[in-house]
Amino acid sequence: MKITYLGHSTFLLETAKAKILFDPFISPNSLAQEIRTSSLDKDWASMLDVEQIECDYVLLSHGHEDHVADAEAILKRTGATVVSNFEIASWFGAKGIEKYHPMNIGGSWDFDFGRVKYVTAVHTSSMPDGSYGGNPGGFVLQVDGKTIYYAGDTALTYDMKLLGEEFNIDVALLPIGDNFTMGPKDAVRAAEFISCNNIIGMHYDTFGYIKIDHDQTQSLFSDNGKTLTLMEIGETKEL
Ligand code: NI
Ligand code: MN
Repeated sequence: MKITYLGHSTFLLETAKAKILFDPFISPNSLAQEIRTSSLDKDWASMLDVEQIECDYVLLSHGHEDHVADAEAILKRTGATVVSNFEIASWFGAKGIEKYHPMNIGGSWDFDFGRVKYVTAVHTSSMPDGSYGGNPGGFVLQVDGKTIYYAGDTALTYDMKLLGEEFNIDVALLPIGDNFTMGPKDAVRAAEFISCNNIIGMHYDTFGYIKIDHDQTQSLFSDNGKTLTLMEIGETKEL
C-alpha cells in the first residue's frame, strides 16, 4: 500500500483494490501548484493536476473549502464514490454526483477495499456555499492488513482514547498546524491517546496561520518517543 502527499490535508492512498483520495484541496493550494509546475517532468506531477488525478473513492472529513475544493470536479470526471457524513454526501448527490455513500459518527461500513469507521472530530463543518455540513469527522481505515487513522481537522479530544482501545493503529495522519486544529503539543498527546508512534503530519504551512517550525515540531515528537513524518508534496511512502 502506498500513500502520496498532495499538500495541506490531501493524501492519495493506493490500496490493493482502490485508490482513495482524502480531502482534495489541490488547485487552490499555491504550495502544491508551485511544486507541480516545477516538476512537470516527474510522473507524480499528474497527481497534483485535478484534471488528471485518478481515484475510486473520495473521503471527505468535513465541508470546509480547504478540504472539499476539488472534490466536485474530480468526482464528476472520475466517477469515484464520495464518502462523508450524511449532509456532505447528500450535498454532492444534489450536485449530480451519482455515487455517494453517507455515513455518520460512530458508523462503520465494509467497502470493497476494506472497512471504514467515521469517527469524532472536534471542529466545525459548513459547505463552501454556506449550507450545513453536518458534524466534522475523521476516518479509521482497516485495509490490506493495516489500520490507518485520518483525523481530519480536530482538536485533541479524549474520544481519541477510544480509538486507541478499539484499534491497533499502524499510522495516523494528524493535523499539527495549530490555530484551526490541534497544534504540535496536543498532537503528541493525541498520538499517546491512540497508542500510535508513527505519525504523518497534515494541515500545516499552507496558510500564514498554520506555519510551523519543522525541526522543532519533529523534535517534540521524538522527545516523546514518537516519529513525526513531514512528507514533501508529491512524495510517496510505502505503508
Ligand atoms: Ni476545517
Ligand atoms: Mn481545514
